[in-house]
Parts: sequence; C-alpha cells; structure tokens
Amino acid sequence: MNAFLKLLLTVKCAIIVVQCSFTTWNLDERRELMCPDYCFTQGCCLCYASPCWEVAKQNAGVACGKTISELAVEKIDLLGTRQLLVVQNTTIYEINYQNEGLAQLPQNLCEFSEKVVKIDFRNNKLRDINKIKCMQKLDSLHLDNNLLYEIKNDTFQLMRDLRILTLSNNKGLERLPPNLFNIGANNIITIELLFNNFDEVDVTNIFRPGNFCAIDYSNGYIKEITNQLNFSFHQNVSYGPGRIRLENCGIQSLPNLTSYGVSFKEFTKYVIGTIEVDNSYVSCDCKLYPFFAYDIAPVFWGQFRSHMVLIENFTCLQPESMKGFDLYSLTKNKRYELLTCQLEVCPSLCTCIDIPAKERIIVNCSDKGLTDFPEHMPWGYWDNNKIELHIANNKITEIPDRDYISRLISVDAKGNSIQHISPTTIMDLEAELNIQDQRLDFLREDFARKDPNLITFGDTAVSCSCQNLWIGDWIRNNKAYNRLWCLTDSRGKIRAEDVTAQSLECTVNVISLYPIIIPLCGLVAMLILLSLLQYCFRYEMFLLYRKCITREKKDGLIDVFVSVADNDDETLTVVLKYIRPALEAENYSVKVPWSDIRNEEERDMQVTDLVSQCRNYVVMLTPQYGKDYNSKFEFDIMWEKFKADASRKIILINDGYEIPRDRYGKIIRALQRVHKELNYKERHTRLVARLIRCLGEPEHGKVINPLTTTVRRRPARQIATSQIEDVDEVIYAA
Ligand SMILES: *[C@@H]1O[C@H](CO)[C@@H](O)[C@H](O)[C@H]1NC(C)=O
Ligand SMILES: *[C@@H]1O[C@H](CO)[C@@H](O)[C@H](O)[C@H]1NC(C)=O
Ligand SMILES: *[C@@H]1O[C@H](CO)[C@@H](O)[C@H](O)[C@H]1NC(C)=O
Ligand SMILES: *[C@@H]1O[C@H](CO)[C@@H](O)[C@H](O)[C@H]1NC(C)=O
Ligand SMILES: *[C@@H]1O[C@H](CO)[C@@H](O)[C@H](O)[C@H]1NC(C)=O
Ligand SMILES: *[C@@H]1O[C@H](CO)[C@@H](O)[C@H](O)[C@H]1NC(C)=O
Ligand SMILES: *[C@@H]1O[C@H](CO)[C@@H](O)[C@H](O)[C@H]1NC(C)=O
Repeated sequence: MNAFLKLLLTVKCAIIVVQCSFTTWNLDERRELMCPDYCFTQGCCLCYASPCWEVAKQNAGVACGKTISELAVEKIDLLGTRQLLVVQNTTIYEINYQNEGLAQLPQNLCEFSEKVVKIDFRNNKLRDINKIKCMQKLDSLHLDNNLLYEIKNDTFQLMRDLRILTLSNNKGLERLPPNLFNIGANNIITIELLFNNFDEVDVTNIFRPGNFCAIDYSNGYIKEITNQLNFSFHQNVSYGPGRIRLENCGIQSLPNLTSYGVSFKEFTKYVIGTIEVDNSYVSCDCKLYPFFAYDIAPVFWGQFRSHMVLIENFTCLQPESMKGFDLYSLTKNKRYELLTCQLEVCPSLCTCIDIPAKERIIVNCSDKGLTDFPEHMPWGYWDNNKIELHIANNKITEIPDRDYISRLISVDAKGNSIQHISPTTIMDLEAELNIQDQRLDFLREDFARKDPNLITFGDTAVSCSCQNLWIGDWIRNNKAYNRLWCLTDSRGKIRAEDVTAQSLECTVNVISLYPIIIPLCGLVAMLILLSLLQYCFRYEMFLLYRKCITREKKDGLIDVFVSVADNDDETLTVVLKYIRPALEAENYSVKVPWSDIRNEEERDMQVTDLVSQCRNYVVMLTPQYGKDYNSKFEFDIMWEKFKADASRKIILINDGYEIPRDRYGKIIRALQRVHKELNYKERHTRLVARLIRCLGEPEHGKVINPLTTTVRRRPARQIATSQIEDVDEVIYAA
C-alpha cells in the first residue's frame, strides 16, 4: 500500500482513536478482514481494510479467531543458509526479516505453508523466489529492494488470499510474465512495482478484471506495453474500479485500445477507475488524441478530475514540436489539433502529418522542385485517409491520374504552370483546388460538373469563344464571380461571367450546315429512289441483264412448250389445230400439256418434267390465263426454268389479257416491255411466221417455208377435225 496512505490511516486513527473502530468486512472469499468504519461511507475499504489479527494486535477489544506471532529466522551454516523456528505458540505466523542480507529463502519455509500469512523480506539480497509459491495462505508479501531478476508465472497462482504484494525496486526484473497477478477469482488488491526498470510489461499485468486498490508502476521505467496473449477486453466484465498508476515511469505511448478489441468510445464502460500518467514521457502525439476526443483522459487521469494542480505538471517532452506544452492547457483550450504524428511512409522529399482532430493528413511537398505529382499517398492511423496536399511552387505541368485523387480534400498547387489536367482526375477530384498560376489554354468540358467555387484559377485567362459558351453559364450558374478570366477574340480578357453569346457576338450558324445537309438529303433521296426503282422494275432489270449475257444452247431439248388456260377451249383448239401443226410442219417439236399429259393425278410433276425439257415457252395470254391453278403452275415453272437458263425464251401471244396487279402481272409487264410480244389478233400466217422467227432454228432440220406450208400440214393429233378449216375465223373472232 502506498506509504502516504498508510501514514494517513495511522494518523487518522491515532487522532480520532475513539471513532476509529473496525467492522468485519468480507471481500470475495476472504472472511477475516475488517474495515475502518469511516471507510464504509467513503468507500475505501478495499485499500484500508486489514486482517482481524492485525487489528486485534492494536485494539485489544477486537475479537479475532486467530492469534499471530513471528517466526524466528536462524542461520544454520557458514554459507548463510537459514531456517525458521517457532518461538511463540500461536495459530498463525508472520516472518519479518529485513535488512539481513538474505540471499536465499529459508530452507524449511514450506513446512509453515499452512500458517504463515505475512512475509516481509524487504531490503535483502534475494534473487530467486520461485520456492515461495508453496506459501498458499499469504495475505501480504513484501519483496522490495531485493535482487529479483525473474518471477515465474505460477509463483502467486495458488495464493488465493494474497492481498498485498510489493516488488518495488528490483532493478534486475526486466519483464513480468502475462497474467502474473491474476490469481483466480480474487485479486491482489494492492500491487507495488515502483522503481523498477521494465523492458516490457504485458497489458494483462495492467488491466485486470474485478476491483482492486492500486497497481503502481510509478517512478520506474516501462519501455513498452506488450500484448503477448492477444488480450482483449471482455464485453461484460469490468476492469476495476482501481487506480492504475503509471506516473513518472517513462511510458512513451499509451496502449492502442482499439487493438484490445474495444473502441475508444466504449473504453470507459469496461475500465473503471483511474489511469495516472503524470510526469511521464507520454508522447503528446496523435496517439493521445482519442483519449481526449472521447473524454477518456478526463475520466482516467485522476488529476484532471480532482486535483487540477497536478495536471500542470504534465509537460510534454516529445515530440519536439510539443516540448514544454502542458496537457492541461491543451485540454482547456481544446487544441487537439496539436496532437499529431509524423508518418514515416511518405513520398520522398515531402512531410506527412496525421492530424486525427482534423480527420486529415497534411502532405507538404511544397518548394521541393518536383516535376510530377507523387505516385502514392500515405494512410494515417485509425483509417484516417483524407489528404490535404501542399504541392505549391514546384515545376509541375500536369495533374495526372493517381489512385489517391478521390482522397484529396484540398490541393494547393499554386506556383506551378499547370497546363494539363487528366479528365479522370477532374471527374474524381472533390477537393478544393488552387492552380492559380496555371497555364491551361482551354478548359475541358469535364469541369462543367465541378463547383467552380472550389477552384482558384488565378489571373491567367483561358480561351473562351462561341464554341465553349458553357464556361460563362458555368460561372454564372454557380455564382462563382471573379474566379476566372476569359481570353476572347472580340473583347480581349474579360471575366468569365461576362461571356455570353451576345457579348461574343456569336451568330447561330445555321447556314454553315447547308453544304452538308443538302447533299446529304439528296443522296438519301437518290438512294431511296434507286432502291424504289430497283424494286418496281426488278423483273425488267433482270430481263435486261439476261439479254446482255451470252446464251449457250443446249442440245436435245424439245423446241416449244405451249401454255394455255385450262378452260379456254377456243384457244386450245387454235393451238392444237393450227399453231402446233404449223410449227411441226417446220420441223419444230411441240408440247401442249392438255394433249401431252394424260395422267391428271401427277400433272404437276409431269408439267415440271416437260417444261425442263423444252427450250421455248409460248404463253397464250387470253383473258382466262392465270386464273386457274394449272396455268398458274405452268407459268411459275416456266419462269423458274427461264430464270435459270439464259438460252430459254418466253414468247407471249396476247389476246385481250388483262394484266393483274400481282406478281404475275409484274413479270408479264416486264416481259412485254423488254421482249416484244406477238399479237394473237394478227393474221395467223403472220403470227406463225413471227413465232418461228422468235423461236429460231428448230432442234432438228430447218424451217422450210414458214409462210406457205403452215396451214396445209396435217396436225399430228387430231381432236376436233371439223374445226380445222375455220381456224382463220377462230383467230379473228377471238
Ligand atoms: C503449541 O500448542 C499446541 C496445542 O495448542 C501443542 O500441541 C504444541 O505442542 C505446542 N507447541 C509448542 C512448541 O509449544
Ligand atoms: C505459464 O507459462 C507457461 C509457458 O511459459 C504456460 O504453459 C502456462 O500455462 C502458464 N501458466 C499460467 C498459470 O499462466
Ligand atoms: C496473436 O495474434 C497474432 C496475429 O493476430 C498471432 O500471430 C499470434 O499467434 C497470436 N498469439 C496468441 C498467443 O494467440
Ligand atoms: C457474459 O455474461 C453472460 C451472461 O450474462 C455469461 O454467460 C458469459 O459467460 C459472460 N462472459 C464473460 C466473458 O464473462
Ligand atoms: C510539479 O512539478 C514541480 C516542478 O517540476 C514540483 O516542484 C511539484 O512538486 C510538482 N507537483 C506535484 C504535485 O507533483
Ligand atoms: C510546407 O513546407 C514548407 C517548407 O518546405 C513551408 O514553408 C510551408 O509552410 C509548409 N506548408 C505547410 C502547410 O505546412
Ligand atoms: C490502433 O489500432 C487500430 C486497429 O487495431 C489501427 O487502425 C490504428 O491505426 C492504431 N492506431 C495507432 C496509433 O497505431
């Protein structure tokens, strides 16, 4: 226990000895404690309670089941080996053996393990105390001012009643194993570790679950606080209340609480009591910031709260920029932006300062003769990622594309002749931008989406013309007056907000479009017309094309196929009785489906066969033609064959045929236009003669005399002999 407090307690009880009565007070499983009555109201039992045998020693009236006496320590050999002796017969014992140059624990110590409740070996020369772990009934253990160099993690584990442990001023003790002071459900109430030089102290030896009086590392040195077992705070456990004293002990930085699984905001929920760090070497840098930002410091720094005087003694020693600054005035004036860290990962030649209070990192690359933007930007502590970039007075001409552009919150690039800004950078940049010495010739239209009020363009004008009138609108719409100069052809250097179509005398230039639009329309119209024509006269075109190509006659074909409408007996008679005999007389072979196809069931197939065997197709275009299935089918087949073979011909003999508006009509009209048709109404002799001229040479033999021989020849097949004589009449009557 703190000597000052002990003194206070003694003095208080000595002065008001009458009131200083004690009452039984139980702490956890410890049943024999007594607490001064005034502490019940002040809540100081944890620190001031004593075992009843101690109270009984001073106040004879106090009843306690146990009596205590000292064990004697005897030297048994020349090497200084000691042993314990019973002098008085009591229920429990204490060993008081200070300033005796004790180098080893007494030989028979463990024989008294059940009865010794207090050991005071202060100011000796003990090096190894491992054996002391057998003393399971200890209430207090004092080992200050010895030569301890190592304490094993099980040394105090079984001392479930240990309340007071003092290990101060053991300079050889460089480290403590984790959880050294966690002895089951009970806490060691007071731990003194003053004037020790620790290389490292595990965090579990600072924060312990449950309440305690104090754990005191002050006036020593703690190089580093470690977390070897990945300790983290448990959600429903409270650590404290208790005083954690780290004053004047060289701690340079407070633990990063977020690495113990709690946020700074919640820290005060878990840890109760005070953490005292006055006169320490705690660096007044960004790592302290959350302690202030989340009001942890005022809660834990006892001095902040109750003894305001003491705070004036926390004078920062580091970093250099904060030397001599006291934390109390920093808190009073809320100058938290002074708590900064210099980041080591930083573009070369630049300095990077993490300022958590401003939620930004200031990267200063000004006046460094840079020719380009840095490749990368640092990340701060606690995910601080916003960057204020100072890159003024360098030799940079371009603001390029970089992955940190969207993290920038301000860019001071004045004193650079910026000539180019990457379009993606313009898009991504949300920062204030100072490019006041820019040499941009023109502004990309990407700027239109930015707020011009965030950009300082300086006095250099950008070129404005009728082609980029958006600049004027942009400035006016955003009320960003006096920000940007424009260089115009007609009016010279003017404010961008004064740039309008009128002020630049821009004429809406419609005429200039005519030379493009008119030919374009013409071309389109012509194309439409052409494709229309091509569509309307597709058959004519085909026929004309056919006329131009050379035809090769095939041998072994029948000369003529005559197609007649189905029910047109009259025309059929003329064909059978007059035309066919006349042609056959001239050595032409002639087929007429009506007489040459007998089997009606397979007519279509036979017609197809027949048509493909014939070279010339004669179509008798009478009004009935094309109205029945058979003639339509015949025409289709003939047209197919005709198209496929350029040596084939279609000869139309017209007799009052009305051209329909369908596909047949179109083909027939095309045939009429391109090929001459024969007129049925001509005299039959002339008709046959012209027909023969159209047909050309027969396959076998020669034309004998088309004009004289036709009529007289007998037809090959005779159907209506009676009508043969008046063939002429028939022709004329039709
Ligand atoms: C101490 O007292 C107990 C009984 O109370 C007795 O048995 C024992 O012998 C005594 N020891 C000494 C050293 O007197
Ligand atoms: C003590 O440390 C050893 C390893 O060094 C470990 O195995 C053991 O569990 C620790 N004991 C306690 C009580 O923490
Ligand atoms: C602590 O965590 C680190 C990384 O998370 C791991 O490498 C290490 O082994 C852990 N240590 C223990 C004692 O769990
Ligand atoms: C937290 O509390 C719950 C019940 O309230 C309990 O079951 C659990 O063990 C506790 N956790 C710890 C770490 O003490
Ligand atoms: C504060 O520091 C001054 C000098 O550094 C010292 O005299 C004074 O005792 C200190 N006050 C406390 C309460 O530690
Ligand atoms: C940046 O550094 C230069 C010197 O290199 C200094 O003059 C200037 O004030 C600094 N700017 C900021 C914002 O810290
Ligand atoms: C503390 O730890 C958290 C995460 O564990 C990390 O984000 C933060 O940067 C650390 N702060 C410092 C000052 O190291």
